[in-house]
Amino acid sequence: MASYFISGGEKLKGTVKIQGSKNAALPIIAASLLHRGTTVIRECPWILDVRYMLEVLKSIGCSIFIDGSTVWIDASDIDASKLAKECIGKMRSSILLLGAMVGRCAQFSLDYPGGCTIGARPVDIHLKALSRMGVHIQEQEGQIYCDTKVLSGEEIQLPYPSVGATENIMMAAVKAEGVTWIHNAAREPEIVDLAEFLKRMGVRIIGAGTERIGILGKCPLCDTEYQVMGDRIVAGTYLLAAAGAGGEIEVCGVKEEHIHCLLQICEKMGCEIRLTDRGICLRSSRRLFSIEDIHTQPFPGFPTDLQSQLMAVLTKAVGESRIFEHVFENRFGTAEELNKMGADIQIKNNRAVIRGVAKLKAGHVYAKDLRGGAALVIAGLMAEGDSIVENSIFIERGYQDICKDLTGLGAKIKVIEGK
Ligand code: UD1
Repeated sequence: MASYFISGGEKLKGTVKIQGSKNAALPIIAASLLHRGTTVIRECPWILDVRYMLEVLKSIGCSIFIDGSTVWIDASDIDASKLAKECIGKMRSSILLLGAMVGRCAQFSLDYPGGCTIGARPVDIHLKALSRMGVHIQEQEGQIYCDTKVLSGEEIQLPYPSVGATENIMMAAVKAEGVTWIHNAAREPEIVDLAEFLKRMGVRIIGAGTERIGILGKCPLCDTEYQVMGDRIVAGTYLLAAAGAGGEIEVCGVKEEHIHCLLQICEKMGCEIRLTDRGICLRSSRRLFSIEDIHTQPFPGFPTDLQSQLMAVLTKAVGESRIFEHVFENRFGTAEELNKMGADIQIKNNRAVIRGVAKLKAGHVYAKDLRGGAALVIAGLMAEGDSIVENSIFIERGYQDICKDLTGLGAKIKVIEGK
């Protein structure tokens, strides 16, 4: 298995163009199934989860053509019975196929996506909402069987603003009779991107980005070309890398309002933030300050997907910081690895207490999940000496080429095969 070899201690400097968003691209690829025709997706990130998703689409009969970051999908003829089980099991996001498949196929079965290291991640909210819209769902032996006679638009009140459930309901609603209203909908920028894509396809949809989304079903759909938004989590990761390692970088292709909460925290830590014509600049020139309390929240709060990376940066801040994880129950796995590098982090339930240390020592550590892996890369950049972060495959699930991006910013990082 490949690893990253990092020689830490270098300050970061330069400009990096941010890849297309993983969490926007995946539902948009799934939504392409709604249309019996062609969808062209630009700025599609070339990451493992996207590759698996495209494999699944191929397995059910979509024709796919890829040229650089542009993906053509022709979903004119699909056969749900041929769904590739191997790829479904490899990615959690396969659950995003549910809404589009319900819209397109009267009967099909999907493997249950199962848990992952950051939490159990149940799909009860997705299933309950789709049942309400008329999908007869049976869960048996790790499979979700869906049988739909009539799909109807409904008023759906979500108990929690689940991102994936909001997306699945939006997709199913495209093919439902009448209007669907989602109350307590997720407000993440990726929801807005999916809505913009659906609008381009011909769907009438209002309220995306607010807690109430309305979708009119059965609008005629057309061939669509769409550019995926920039990845706010990748941008946030690189900004945090510069905050931790020191230096001055500019990230391009991501909107300030998508990472506003992070930028405020960076300023509180003592970084200087400047908006440029092309993007966002961060300068970090001194030892950072700790942050008293950080709570992960749905958007526009601080994103859980940047929690581990922020934790890595806070390991060297002056004083004590506390992070409260409210989205996933088991997202502090990286603390143990950071402690191997000399950090002082204590975890109790959903709270991490981070006491800043003057130095991190280089180490041999193991990525256990995608964002936690990125946090270890940041720690490697912040430590003096040579570190190895094993299991780069986790990081490749979300970062197109983290080595190239960070090398372009002056970091010393490379991929090594085996140990
Ligand atoms: C999406 C993102 C992920 C991000 C997360 C929260 C994608 C592909 N992934 O994941 O990167 O970390 O949003 O911003 O977009 N829950 C239930 N029952 C459900 C659904 C969710 O209990 O049916 C719980 C989850 O276990 C979790 C919380 O709700 O504790 C948030 O999950 P959700 O918003 O659904 O996240 P995902 O869509 O899985």
